[in-house]
Amino acid sequence: MPTVTPLIDATTIAARIGVLAGVIGRAYADRPLTLLCCLKGGYLFTADLSRALPIPHRVAFVRAASYGDGTVSSGNVRFDCLDPAELDGRDVLLVEDIIDTGRTAAVLMKTIASLPVRSVRLCALLDKPGRREVAVIPDYLGFSIDDHFVVGYGLDYAEAYRNLPYIGVLVQDDPAT
Ligand code: IMP
Ligand code: MG
Repeated sequence: MPTVTPLIDATTIAARIGVLAGVIGRAYADRPLTLLCCLKGGYLFTADLSRALPIPHRVAFVRAASYGDGTVSSGNVRFDCLDPAELDGRDVLLVEDIIDTGRTAAVLMKTIASLPVRSVRLCALLDKPGRREVAVIPDYLGFSIDDHFVVGYGLDYAEAYRNLPYIGVLVQDDPAT
């Protein structure tokens, strides 16, 4: 069984989201903001960011899958659940759990930018800049982290651990020990 070593606790996550919500609220005051939650990993971050945002906004969903059940990217990105008409004329803020190679966010940002939206920007809870393969820089970022595979607060390993209230590093047991 893998174990999880705490990395960012729930209080620290909540405080950071409060700061981000203030910044985003000022940037999007009087603009038709839609938070586009990237499922599944972005569900808790989007819920908390939405509740902390001091301005009116809508919420929409897109499902992106770039991983199988493991910790290695397959390189393939699939999208569904997106209703493009919902984003017409909106200032779209894509809400992602984590930017790793950058492939998922790059394809999504390009796809959304090709729609008749007013603007599109990227908000990510976590960034692993050391793993980048495609140039992507989040406009709003929670935390930059080292190259660990992390779980909790929406992030999974084989669909487990999403419900943890904190973010932790997944430590695989060494079969030799
Ligand atoms: P990218 O396309 O390589 O940037 O990967 C983005 C997606 O891979 C994220 O939205 C996550 O679903 C998943 N992912 C990347 N790194 C991690 C991690 O450390 N833990 C859990 N999921 C991850
Ligand atoms: Mg995942």
